[in-house]
Amino acid sequence: MNKKTVRDIDLKGKKVFVRCDFNVPMDKEQNITDNTRIIAALPTIKYLLEQNCKIILASHLGRPKGEFKPEFSLKPVAKELSKLLDREVIMAKDVIGEDAMKKASELKEGEILLLENVRFHREETDNDPEFSKKLASMAEIYVNDAFGTAHRAHSSTTGIASYLPAVAGFLIEKELKFLGEAVNNPARPFMAILGGAKVSDKIGVIDSLLDKVDTLMIGGGMAYTFFKAQGYEVGNSICELDKLDLAKELMEKAKNKGVNLMLPVDTKIGKEYKEDTESKTVKYTEIPADWEGFDIGEETIKIYSEELQKAKTVVWNGPLGLFEFPQFAIGTDEIAKVLANLDATTIIGGGDSAAAVKKAGLEDKMTHISTGGGASLEFLEGKKLPGIEALMDK
Ligand code: 3PG
Repeated sequence: MNKKTVRDIDLKGKKVFVRCDFNVPMDKEQNITDNTRIIAALPTIKYLLEQNCKIILASHLGRPKGEFKPEFSLKPVAKELSKLLDREVIMAKDVIGEDAMKKASELKEGEILLLENVRFHREETDNDPEFSKKLASMAEIYVNDAFGTAHRAHSSTTGIASYLPAVAGFLIEKELKFLGEAVNNPARPFMAILGGAKVSDKIGVIDSLLDKVDTLMIGGGMAYTFFKAQGYEVGNSICELDKLDLAKELMEKAKNKGVNLMLPVDTKIGKEYKEDTESKTVKYTEIPADWEGFDIGEETIKIYSEELQKAKTVVWNGPLGLFEFPQFAIGTDEIAKVLANLDATTIIGGGDSAAAVKKAGLEDKMTHISTGGGASLEFLEGKKLPGIEALMDK
């Protein structure tokens, strides 16, 4: 990585503003249902504690659209962090208000303060310079460890870096190491599995990966746009009619590049979008007009699994079917199991694919599961992430 990290700067006793991504899922009672992102922030926080820093943590939670809303409070995160670190985490009542400013100014070495949700201010997402300056005024050094939010150019992810020495935390360093090596220097054969509902969400990543991979396997809702582009009936399956030419272009590009672009040969279809709907598996060329495709079929699972045995590096982004419904989660689950047993580097993009791997209890079997959904996708697309660009060069 060509950006400075917490290791490259003298932090002893300093007041440090750390942007984390504590955007964690919660149930209706605001219990955290997956604390992965909080755990992922611990190495940097512990390192700063060893350096006797005064630590100010900041994050967003959800999209409260610039207003204070109690259901988007970071209080449950303070509680969870405090439990994980076995020490007090002081919770500020606001972000740049009287309470936060007072608590930040009184912070002692080894103490941790968590600010309220930065998105309670619209200025955060507007990347407002005055708001950025105010955040910066609380500390002497800025550390960005919010990989999951690194694709957003907001005040606490980029703006603040104009006013303080700015370095990366260990999570950003780790994510860039795994994602970067997989994409730029992969052991071959290098294969990618791409799923998810829409081709339009994945155009950039398909296009970029076609320059890099040996094999690209397609699954999920976007497969039906590829079927339609070849002139087949897809029934009520999700299909982007305005992307048919694009699907054809991508197939053509794969051919020209010598990439093995694999599409499902069969699909599990249902009568309607319902958990217990009547279902059956058909060839991809034989979807009836009044049925809807929800998963890859058994033959596809078999063919993809056999191909994956040859892989030395695999990147996976996006579920292969409607995995929220058990009868259509089979493709996603089976491919996750195959990856778990491969003798290869396996990188899982965040978001739904990470959730699917966790649901199957296979997270320990993967080389790396990214904490960033949108961020890892943009990284794989070859885009520059503003939260990382804003940091000091080595
Ligand atoms: C995420 O969960 O992908 C990140 O926390 C970014 O959230 P956002 O999409 O609301 O900016």
